[in-house]
Amino acid sequence: MEPLLRIALLFLFFHLSILVNSSPSQHLQIINAERRIDLNSHIIKVYLTLKVENSGTSPTSEVHLAFSPAEAEHLAVVKAAATTGKRKKKTYVPLDVKSAELPEGPNGTKFFSITLLTPLSKGETITLEVLYILTHSLEPFPVEISQSESQLVYFRDSAILLSPYHVKQQTTFIKTPSARVESHTVVDPTKRVGTELKYGPYENHSPYSYSPVLVHFENNNPFAVVEELEREIEISHWGSLQITERYKLVHAGAKHKGVFSRVEYQTRSGASGVSSFKHLLAKLPPRVHSVYYRDEIGNISSSHLRTDFLKSELEFEPRYPLFGGWKSTFLIGYGLPLQDFLFESPDGRRYLNFTFGCPLAETVVDKLILKVVLPEGSKDPAAVIPFQVEQHLETKYSYLDIVGRTVVVLEKRNVVPEHNIPFQVYYNFNPIFMLAEPLMLASVFFLLFAASVAYLHMDISIRK
Ligand SMILES: *[C@@H]1O[C@H](CO)[C@@H](O)[C@H](O)[C@H]1NC(C)=O
Ligand SMILES: *[C@@H]1O[C@H](CO)[C@@H](O)[C@H](O)[C@H]1NC(C)=O
Ligand SMILES: *[C@@H]1O[C@H](CO)[C@@H](O)[C@H](O)[C@H]1NC(C)=O
Repeated sequence: MEPLLRIALLFLFFHLSILVNSSPSQHLQIINAERRIDLNSHIIKVYLTLKVENSGTSPTSEVHLAFSPAEAEHLAVVKAAATTGKRKKKTYVPLDVKSAELPEGPNGTKFFSITLLTPLSKGETITLEVLYILTHSLEPFPVEISQSESQLVYFRDSAILLSPYHVKQQTTFIKTPSARVESHTVVDPTKRVGTELKYGPYENHSPYSYSPVLVHFENNNPFAVVEELEREIEISHWGSLQITERYKLVHAGAKHKGVFSRVEYQTRSGASGVSSFKHLLAKLPPRVHSVYYRDEIGNISSSHLRTDFLKSELEFEPRYPLFGGWKSTFLIGYGLPLQDFLFESPDGRRYLNFTFGCPLAETVVDKLILKVVLPEGSKDPAAVIPFQVEQHLETKYSYLDIVGRTVVVLEKRNVVPEHNIPFQVYYNFNPIFMLAEPLMLASVFFLLFAASVAYLHMDISIRK
């Protein structure tokens, strides 16, 4: 062989081997995968348990998860933990999960990478628990239903776990809200008992194996989607936190067909409008006060507030029940004691510690805009939040404001109840500004006083 060609071939081989080595599927294999898909709500929760083994030669600390393009588009949360011990003695260590790029995989596959605390060496195994949440992934079929019909939906997935690794053994369990399953794809072995559909066990599937399945089933649980929620949290150093929440709520299930009969709805409750909803539940902090609820028309009094030491629950009803495709726009306002949420950090800065997300139970928020209105004169605001959000600053003016208030605006799409976790906004505050408002008030009173004295004087002088 020509020496040049030999060098070229060697070079090529060298590069190929690097490519092969850097491919994750060469390092790891999944000994067992168990997936439990919960289709009870319109917010789909998937619990995945993976027993991963390092079958390569070098230690590795990254484990990759793969998602199809359709899943990736509707993914709201991906969390992972390493577990040790069995059953009751099980301990969970949360692990970092971030979006990742891999040069391989079918077109459009999206990857996430789980970082292990200690590298997994050759021959070692680890058990990982993954939770991922999908929204807008149940497709109503039929697309339109009448008031007396039940809502049926399609769910699409793969019977075989999409993975960049060889999977030795795997099983998938799908839980439906009722035993009414119109149809489901069969990928032998497949078994359905009551509300549980079992795919597998399947043995030895090569990386990126995929086997589409379609499940058509009944789901009448409220498909409550807030297209947009704007929450404004206003801090007043005079003792309170004022919250105003503007909701644009829609029933995202099968569209309502025909005319709505209130008579039928009221007389045949339970059988009529099973997929509609009219009760809404907001979980608010304890010690909430001055709660009000109103829509475009005015205040609505049909709300009940229950409070205890741990939480408050506001139960309320829109003016009419919501059927598929129907919308409701409303506003909730309430006050909270400042000392429950405003603290001083060791470095002297103040901070608000409040809950992110949406107070409405089992709701998807397509777009959440959270505004924290800081007291006048606050400086250097910084938000601390455990997931990615868009941030910017605005200025708000209200009466008696001189320089305006800084507003920290946080925005996030595809928000689910798992996002209801504490976040903080730190800021510097010069207490001299506490005097600004009273000084303004005092000067207004003084001017009024001066004016009335002048008027009285005038009055007296005229009468003379
Ligand atoms: C991937 O899919 C997109 C859109 O479907 C297509 O335009 C592109 O050519 C595909 N790429 C490959 C490498 O198949
Ligand atoms: C609604 O109720 C709130 C609080 O009780 C009150 O401040 C507001 O003025 C009321 N609005 C209307 C339009 O009645
Ligand atoms: C924020 O509040 C939560 C409880 O509501 C608490 O667990 C957490 O430690 C607080 N965070 C900070 C930084 O104060």
